[in-house]
Amino acid sequence: MRVLEIDHPLVAHKLTVLRDKKTPSSVFRQLADELVTLLAYEATRSVAVAPSGINTPVAPTTGMKITDPQPMIVPILRAGLGMLDGLTRLIPTGEVGFLGMVRNDETLEVTTYANRLPEDLTGRQCFVLDPMLATGHTLIAAVEYLLERGAKDVTCVTLVCAPEGLKTLEESIAEDVNLTVVTAAVDDHLNERGYIVPGLGDAGDRLFGVV
Ligand code: URA
Repeated sequence: MRVLEIDHPLVAHKLTVLRDKKTPSSVFRQLADELVTLLAYEATRSVAVAPSGINTPVAPTTGMKITDPQPMIVPILRAGLGMLDGLTRLIPTGEVGFLGMVRNDETLEVTTYANRLPEDLTGRQCFVLDPMLATGHTLIAAVEYLLERGAKDVTCVTLVCAPEGLKTLEESIAEDVNLTVVTAAVDDHLNERGYIVPGLGDAGDRLFGVV
């Protein structure tokens, strides 16, 4: 597993404003979107491309285009939805599949309550969107789900990770799997309530309100 913690002043700035508890939902949503676009630039570094012939107004030439099957973008409901536009902005031809997963705040166990993904993901590059990699259980379930359906490689795009969750994810997924985690920050630790410290609180609530 590769972990890419993106070191960029704009990423650091936007993340700092996101972390601030005084930041209102409207600004939080806008900043999360901008931050994901910056992370997506790095996360898509290995997207599959192939030579493609075109004619410029001046001359024929060969460039590169994203190959089929198009990448599959998988936001984890609910909080991952706040990251979707940031990724599709850079890969508008990508397809979008959804996984609804919820964590029990007492037991920290994860249940899948919705799934809208193709059964066959053979050869697909998948981008999983979930802002907070806390215990790692949600991403483990999502990555296993995609691999079972034949995904070629999986890149998880997160805003903040806990070191404990990264360790659990790494230990749970076979070494030969092409798995990458792209994040704006690896934080200090996970507290006893399963929150990342210092983190940014409940990402779903901050994006969409407490419902
Ligand atoms: N989920 C969140 O939204 N925040 C955390 O800190 C941990 C899990």
